[in-house]
Formats: sequence, structure tokens, C-alpha cells
Amino acid sequence: MMRNATISEQRVNIDGQRLLRRIEQLGNVGSIPGGGVCRLALTDADRVGRDLVVQWMRELELDVAVDAIGNVVATRRGLEDGPPVMTGSHIDTVRTGGRYDGNLGVLAGLEVVAALNDAGVMTRRPLAVAFFTNEEGARFQPDMMGSLVYVGASPLEQALATRGIDGATVAEELARIGYAGAAAVGKPKVHAYVELHVEQGPVLEEEGFVIGAVEGVQGISWTEFTIEGQSNHAGTTPMRLRRDAGYAATQIACYARRLAEEMGGNQVATVGSLTLSPNLVNVVSNRALMTVDLRNTEEGALQEAERKLFAYAEAAAATEGVLLARRTLARFSPVAFVPELVARVEAIAEELGLTVMRLPSGAGHDAQMLARICPACMIFVPSVGGISHNVKEFTEPADLVAGANVLLRLLLELAV
Ligand code: GLV
Ligand code: MN
Ligand code: MN
Repeated sequence: MMRNATISEQRVNIDGQRLLRRIEQLGNVGSIPGGGVCRLALTDADRVGRDLVVQWMRELELDVAVDAIGNVVATRRGLEDGPPVMTGSHIDTVRTGGRYDGNLGVLAGLEVVAALNDAGVMTRRPLAVAFFTNEEGARFQPDMMGSLVYVGASPLEQALATRGIDGATVAEELARIGYAGAAAVGKPKVHAYVELHVEQGPVLEEEGFVIGAVEGVQGISWTEFTIEGQSNHAGTTPMRLRRDAGYAATQIACYARRLAEEMGGNQVATVGSLTLSPNLVNVVSNRALMTVDLRNTEEGALQEAERKLFAYAEAAAATEGVLLARRTLARFSPVAFVPELVARVEAIAEELGLTVMRLPSGAGHDAQMLARICPACMIFVPSVGGISHNVKEFTEPADLVAGANVLLRLLLELAV
């Protein structure tokens, strides 16, 4: 017999062991040496991971809907109809990912549902647990693709036509793995969105806090540069006659690093991908393909970093006599979460006797997209050594469970 949730019934606790078991089981899908995971979006490994999570959703008696961009939303009925309180994240990973990035938020959401089912507690509003397609953006750009389409900020057709780093399109791969769903994109509407995630940075651990009340997400700018020069013999071509695409590319890479150091503050810059052609020891490169990831918590500073980087790249290319083309792969302004929700994360953590601090997110998250359509916030737990997008990503089990308990209480507050 289901009962209406009351404040006293908010003493429901999540089952930590069950949460940890699910994290381990999902982490075994696409596992790679060193304890990490490779489940790039819409690959076979992603499909196996999706199938497992959907199976768990059905076992929890959730109503599972798959939309046209492959987002999966599993809804638990409320005493009243209406927009659900949603939680979730993503289950795709980078090629050298860990077990927690994204997966924690989805599996903690399922654990909240399991705990409420066990306790026989019904909420007034429905609850939904979602995982969004291609949050990582490692295979298809931009990142946060599924949630971006969900909130109506990017046309579905454009996302479906996106070609990945291996040449396949999102539409082809969704159809191939059986996740081109029939549900309307952007449904249901969302009352509020809360996402639990590992911090992926060093702050909570260094400062000695268990819970992060995330104030917002920094802005992201991804640019792809294509540089065309002329290949020639490495031994016979005098330096003054070279049009070396590789040289221009590496100059830009070094400048990106220098730029971030000179700007200071929260500016970061990363060249995560650089491919030279023909990529041979004795041939001057005729082509370079590279990416630059710039991020800052301040929109004005991020724009300044972009201006300086682009100006430098053009000057470096001109000096070397190579052609430079640039394409934006992703561009998102910084997002601030709703202050009342950030304050509730803090208060709930304190009520549970957990240490809590406010901080911005350095990584991108689906919550920053959901924030466009509803009040949204995030809960962080520490990442040991601040390591993420690495097989060694790790969060202490007790911290995973603590974060899930904060999530449970905030979801109940919003849904009661
Ligand atoms: C995506 O998750 C990113 O922050 O790179
Ligand atoms: Mn993530
Ligand atoms: Mn990630």
C-alpha cells in the first residue's frame, strides 16, 4: 500500500550497497584496463549499457520513454499528474573514462526510486530519472547534445545529421543500436531538475568537504582548426621555404596554454586532439587538424580568450604561409543555478551532518541545459586526486552514498 510522502517519511534512506552494486555492474560494461570504461556515445558498448539501465528502470516499474535523439526518460507516477521532478545525467563516457562520471547521477536516481518503492512512499508530483544522449561530446559534437535538443535549444534534424569523429552520423548510429525512439522530444515538461555528479576536480577533496552545492557551470568554447600547408622532403627543404601545417598547429597549441596562464583566474585551455598528415618522420606536414577547448566562469573573459586565440592563430598561419579554417564545435555561456535550490542543497547536507561548500562546475553537464527550461541545480561529491576523464577516476563509496542521500531528500522536497 503506497502512502503519501510526509516530512517524517523523508527519513527514507537509500540502500548504499544496492547503489554501489549497480555502479559496479554498469562499470563492467565497456570496461577497459585500469578500471575505467569506454562507452562512447551510440557505440555497441553504449547500447549494452543503455539496455542494462533500461532493464533496471522497468524492474522498478517506471514508465520508460525513448525519444528521437535517444534520450531515455523513466517516470514514476505521482499522486497528481503534471510535470515531474527530474533527476539524471548521462551514461556515455569518453574513450578513457571512469565509472562515475554521469553514471552516478543516473544510478543514484534509480536508487532514489528503489528506496521510495521499498518504503511504499508516493510523491505528489511524478518523479523522472533520465539519461541524455551524448553528454560527453567526445564522439559527436557538441557535448550535452541530447539535453540541448530536449530543451529545444538545438534543432533535432541538425543533431541527427551530426557526423562523428569516425564518420557515422547520430541518426545512423541511433537506428543501428535501436535507440531512435518514438517519444516526442522535450516531453515531459520538467518541474525542476537536480543532478548528482562527481566533481571531477580537486576542490572538495583539497578543502575537506563531502558535498558540493554547485552554483553554476562555466562557459565552454570548442574550436576545431584545420591547417593546410605543403608536404615536402624533411631533408632537402630549406626552413625558409617551408609551409609546415604541423609547425603552425603546435604554435597555436603552445599559445593556448600561454594564454590561459597569462589570463589567470578561471581561464583554462586544452588542446586535446591534434592530428598531423601524413604523420611521417621525414615529411613536412601538409595538414593539421586540432581542437582547442577554452573555458571560463565569466562570459566576457571567455570572449576575450577566443578573440586572442583566433587572432594569434590567423597571424601564425599567415607567417608560415599556410591556410587556416576554423569551425565552432560547441559554444555555451556560463550558467547560474537557481539560488534557492543551491541553498537547499547546502541546508540538506547540513541537516544530514555532511560538510558542504559552494563551488562552480568546471565540467559541462546536462543540468546546464535543463536550467533553460526549469529550476535546476547540482550536487557534487569529491573526486579522489581531482582525477576524471581517466580510468583512475574514483570517489569514496561513503561519499557516493552521502550524495545520493542529499539527492533523495531534495527530490522528495520538490515532489511532495
Ligand atoms: C563534458 O562533460 C565536458 O565537460 O567536457
Ligand atoms: Mn559527466
Ligand atoms: Mn565527462
